[in-house]
Amino acid sequence: MMDKRLQILFSGLTLQNPVIPASGTYGYGLEFAELYDINCLGALSIKGTTVEPRHGNLTPRIAECEAGLLNSVGLQNPGVEEVKKTILPQLRQVYHQPIIANISGFSIDDYVYLTEAMSEEEQVEIIEVNISCPNVHNGGMSFGVDPLSAATITKAVKAVATKPVFVKLSPNVTDIVAIAKACEEAGADGLCLINTLLGMRIDIARRSAVLNNRYGGMSGPQIFPLALRMVNQVANATSLPIIGCGGVSSAKDVIEMMMAGAHAVEIGSANLIDPFVCKKIIEELPELMDRLKIENLTDIIGIIK
Ligand SMILES: Cc1cc2nc3c(=O)[nH]c(=O)nc-3n(C[C@H](O)[C@H](O)[C@H](O)COP(=O)(O)O)c2cc1C
Repeated sequence: MMDKRLQILFSGLTLQNPVIPASGTYGYGLEFAELYDINCLGALSIKGTTVEPRHGNLTPRIAECEAGLLNSVGLQNPGVEEVKKTILPQLRQVYHQPIIANISGFSIDDYVYLTEAMSEEEQVEIIEVNISCPNVHNGGMSFGVDPLSAATITKAVKAVATKPVFVKLSPNVTDIVAIAKACEEAGADGLCLINTLLGMRIDIARRSAVLNNRYGGMSGPQIFPLALRMVNQVANATSLPIIGCGGVSSAKDVIEMMMAGAHAVEIGSANLIDPFVCKKIIEELPELMDRLKIENLTDIIGIIK
């Protein structure tokens, strides 16, 4: 049953609650739909889609850490045509809440193409632009590490999007506020942060990096305080709605993220530990709100100035 106290409004959207599985940690929701009714979710951010199908990087591409993991999956996905033709129709059968289309490109043309393709999908309510990808026309440097290229992508995507555009920021920068402001000025409708942090593990017996790719994206509870700090900085420096992400694994973490400035919260690696975690958090929120004397979740968004 829907609990109005959990309802969140932003960018002309109403989410029944702020809990969203993060891109790449929930596939397209289909396996999870076999475990429980995924219509309890606020929204669902699907695996990062690219123009062409991708097999991803060579294994090993997951390294465990004390409180999280590193991944170098490398955007494995069947490509936008297959996602539209086969996967989204399957998802529609079992899921009727908003879809967030996470898109990943290697050139501006890629992002524009993907935005047009995903905007056509009725159930897609937000285009989430992953700018952590390498720009093949700029020596492989990530689009997300400099304000100018982040703004260029945002403008190009906004010119063709018919759905709200949320730019997903990389934390691998010295000044995330400068990038966030550049996206805001370029017309972004919202921001999502953070993506993974670049990390490394070494197998000391084999004397080699654990990941075949050497470096990989760090996620999980170990990045939560850092993500929270960045969400708070960006929330206080822009007026855009923010989807907070990074290390969230409990209802308490969701409340913390929202107090820091997030309108909604994405949950990533926690799904890999407990596939029921999103459902559990949604169920736990009302009781925790009672304990904290929170009437409606919207009341706490960004209260930490
Ligand atoms: C295995 C794996 C795959 C991911 N794939 C994507 C992706 O395709 N697109 C994207 O924007 N982020 C991707 N991410 C990043 C997550 O969406 C999220 O931003 C990050 O993991 C931080 O959140 P967490 O600590 O809750 O996992 C991936 C993360 C993991 C662990």
